[in-house]
Amino acid sequence: MGTRIIGTGSCLPKTVVTNDDLAKIMDTSDEWISSRTGIRERHLAKEETTTSMSVEAARRAIENVGVTAQEIDLIIVGTVSADHVTPACACEVQAEIGAYRAVAFDINAACSGFMFALNIANAYLQTGAYRTALIIGAETLSKIMDWSDRSTCVLFGDGAGAAVVRADEREGLLAFDQGTDGVKGRVLACQNRSNNNPLVKTPTELQYVHMDGQEVYRFAVTQVPASLQKTIEAAGLAVGDIDYFALHQANLRILQAVAKRLKVPEDRFPISLDHCGNISAASVPILLDEMNRKGLLKPGMKIALSGFGGGLTWASAVFQW
Ligand code: UT7
Repeated sequence: MGTRIIGTGSCLPKTVVTNDDLAKIMDTSDEWISSRTGIRERHLAKEETTTSMSVEAARRAIENVGVTAQEIDLIIVGTVSADHVTPACACEVQAEIGAYRAVAFDINAACSGFMFALNIANAYLQTGAYRTALIIGAETLSKIMDWSDRSTCVLFGDGAGAAVVRADEREGLLAFDQGTDGVKGRVLACQNRSNNNPLVKTPTELQYVHMDGQEVYRFAVTQVPASLQKTIEAAGLAVGDIDYFALHQANLRILQAVAKRLKVPEDRFPISLDHCGNISAASVPILLDEMNRKGLLKPGMKIALSGFGGGLTWASAVFQW
């Protein structure tokens, strides 16, 4: 029995903020941001929430494949920026789309969140416990950014992406790899809740994302190609057999470095970061949905996916489309 991605959907907030817009409110420039990262603009949520974007992405994924909400057995949302501590975003999605049969929960694996959710769903589907899963990556990162830290806030955006995943006779997921390096976790951290108990005062500077960009860069350009290589080999394929590499959209220079290490032409690495920025767990499913809607994904193609970031975590998968 295979695990196939059978439908995709995504949702970006209406408001677009360009690099020039940011240069009006902080000491930065389009030249610095675009030359260092490839990012030109990002969507930032005003009235949208992590749940509302998840619901919209889910509806589009369901429509894309023509399943009904009642057929969904499992909903997993990967997010670090859910609207509430509880109920989980996945529970709100379940209620909003009317997927009343589905078991629903969130997971936190930062930028690897969608990939971890996908691999968890695969494990459930392969036991036979469930047949159809809705996997979502969704973030409102703008609310956990330190907008006085120009080295971090210019990189991130808001949005959600979703995929319907189903146990199927045909092959889909061929191999996956996941890993965690908790020892280095503090290089990308966010303590986003202050403690109001009478004994402890949480310092406010811990409440927003803090990142050592160069350490994260070094981690990404070594761990991601190694993970992809391992996964491609486990799938019984060579790097040259992969039609597209749909990677977490953190930085164009990371994608170029991974392409160089794998000796793969850069045009096999589709990008959405130019108009989305880095949307953590939502990056991979939004990119996948854009590829799907552009008609890039043809039956039988081999697609490598990879997420990497906070935790530190990473996860790769090779699919036959
Ligand atoms: O999902 C995973 C998330 N994280 C990542 O993918 C991050 C990976 N890391 C990176 O992509 C890069 O490290 C960054 C893009 C974050 C930063 O690039 P960098 O080449 O490592 O820059 P830097 O931090 O070394 O800063 C270079 C200079 C500094 O000025 P001085 O000290 O040389 O005078 C910064 O103050 O650039 C300055 N700078 C900026 N200037 C204009 C930092 N941010 C900005 C900015 N605009 N937004």
